[in-house]
Amino acid sequence: MGKDVIIACDFSSAQATFDFLDKFTEEKPFVKIGMELFYAEGPSIVKEIKKRGHKIFLDLKLHDIPNTVKKSMAVLSKLDVDMTNLHAAGTIDMMKAALEGLTREDGTRPLLIAVTQLTSTSEERMQNELLINSSINDTIVKYASNAKEAGLDGVVCSPLEAGMVKENCGKAFMTVTPGVRFADGDIGDQVRVTTPAKAKEIGSDYIVVGRPITAAEDPVAAYRRCVAEFVD
Ligand code: C5P
Repeated sequence: MGKDVIIACDFSSAQATFDFLDKFTEEKPFVKIGMELFYAEGPSIVKEIKKRGHKIFLDLKLHDIPNTVKKSMAVLSKLDVDMTNLHAAGTIDMMKAALEGLTREDGTRPLLIAVTQLTSTSEERMQNELLINSSINDTIVKYASNAKEAGLDGVVCSPLEAGMVKENCGKAFMTVTPGVRFADGDIGDQVRVTTPAKAKEIGSDYIVVGRPITAAEDPVAAYRRCVAEFVD
């Protein structure tokens, strides 16, 4: 499993996304497509970006009954994405069904990772609104263990949680971590952030970086800086 930097392409249209990707003439970064772009442009945006030679993490966070998730994953698998995800809260049965749906006839499939608790959910809200009477860290570790038991490849988590997940689920269980900022950069609306170098030290397998690259004056240079700190 190679470490890599995934650029969060949080643009609202295909044109804005292509204008951004056109800046990269020498490398083909791994990109993340989220709900906003996918719902605006549909599957064609995935096909177009794939045609340009990029790897794609399709971040749609599925959560429904097992049968529906299985059938939806089969559709996403046909789009030839490299990584996709779901909510671990859908239970082990749902995650197993997702894997079945995702697996192609030749046995290959995109990587499948789980969202444990969203980083926007505080421990207080999780306990008071969702009636989960555990700490947020225990919940994250339990959901990650469930994902592992279902056969998934890893989880999305804060880089600061990656060490805890690795300790409990093993080194080979992937951690994909957003919330990355350069030491001298703006943190924006993210709260628990760390640098690419620190994320490497903690053991993240993939970092997901949005605005530090997309809003940079020179996005290609910012991407290269991430790669230099995290991968090289
Ligand atoms: O611009 P920025 O680097 O903050 O982008 C991070 C990306 O990762 C965004 O697409 C955001 O939705 C996503 N993400 C996150 N925190 C999570 C899960 C996903 O920031 N817990």
